Amino acid sequence: MAVRTLLVACTLFLGMCLITSSRPTETTQAFCNIEWLLALPCAQVNKAIVTEIKSLKNIYKLGTVTPLQIQANHTSAPGQMEQVNFTMTPAAMGEGCRLHGFSMSAVWYSSFSNSTNYCNLQTVVNGSGLTKTPGFMEFTNEWRCLGLEDAACPSK
Ligand SMILES: *[C@@H]1O[C@H](CO)[C@@H](O)[C@H](O)[C@H]1NC(C)=O
Ligand SMILES: *[C@@H]1O[C@H](CO)[C@@H](O)[C@H](O)[C@H]1NC(C)=O
Ligand SMILES: *[C@@H]1O[C@H](CO)[C@@H](O)[C@H](O)[C@H]1NC(C)=O
Ligand SMILES: *[C@@H]1O[C@H](CO)[C@@H](O)[C@H](O)[C@H]1NC(C)=O
Repeated sequence: MAVRTLLVACTLFLGMCLITSSRPTETTQAFCNIEWLLALPCAQVNKAIVTEIKSLKNIYKLGTVTPLQIQANHTSAPGQMEQVNFTMTPAAMGEGCRLHGFSMSAVWYSSFSNSTNYCNLQTVVNGSGLTKTPGFMEFTNEWRCLGLEDAACPSK
């Protein structure tokens, strides 16, 4: 079932699967992949994400930022950390931007709740205001985002 869902999703979001195949080889590790399609230039998307991560500096630590990539670490509890990466890909035509978010728990506490990774990404993108822009679309499934089904993010 999950495989069929993915195939359908790949057809709908043709090409996206190629650029978003980043998955940890360690399958017991919790992770989450989310794609967003935005009708905005990537530069604007990048700025909104960076601004939001900076404003959440008590829980996110901003790392390397390039025009098409943003790295950060998220602390979910003392001693518990996830790596959060955002990658932007300009649309082939027009002004659109594909945003890929990837959050992965550190290996040493791989049994920690999978939903944490989903919430790490959601919190930033929600807070950035991008979810309210016209043409916004979000895509993931429980195969690409572990813990998605029972995700209940703490409201900030
Ligand atoms: C994020 O965590 C990784 C792994 O511990 C570390 O190598 C990296 O420097 C950290 N980045 C930031 C911005 O703290
Ligand atoms: C985040 O991106 C950096 C640079 O591409 C990479 O070294 C790191 O492994 C990525 N982290 C994850 C969790 O994919
Ligand atoms: C995370 O997801 C994996 C794969 O579905 C599962 O085996 C594991 O038990 C989950 N971990 C937690 C803490 O929910
Ligand atoms: C993000 O926004 C949606 C819709 O407003 C809401 O349902 C969801 O709970 C929010 N998630 C987080 C992590 O803030």
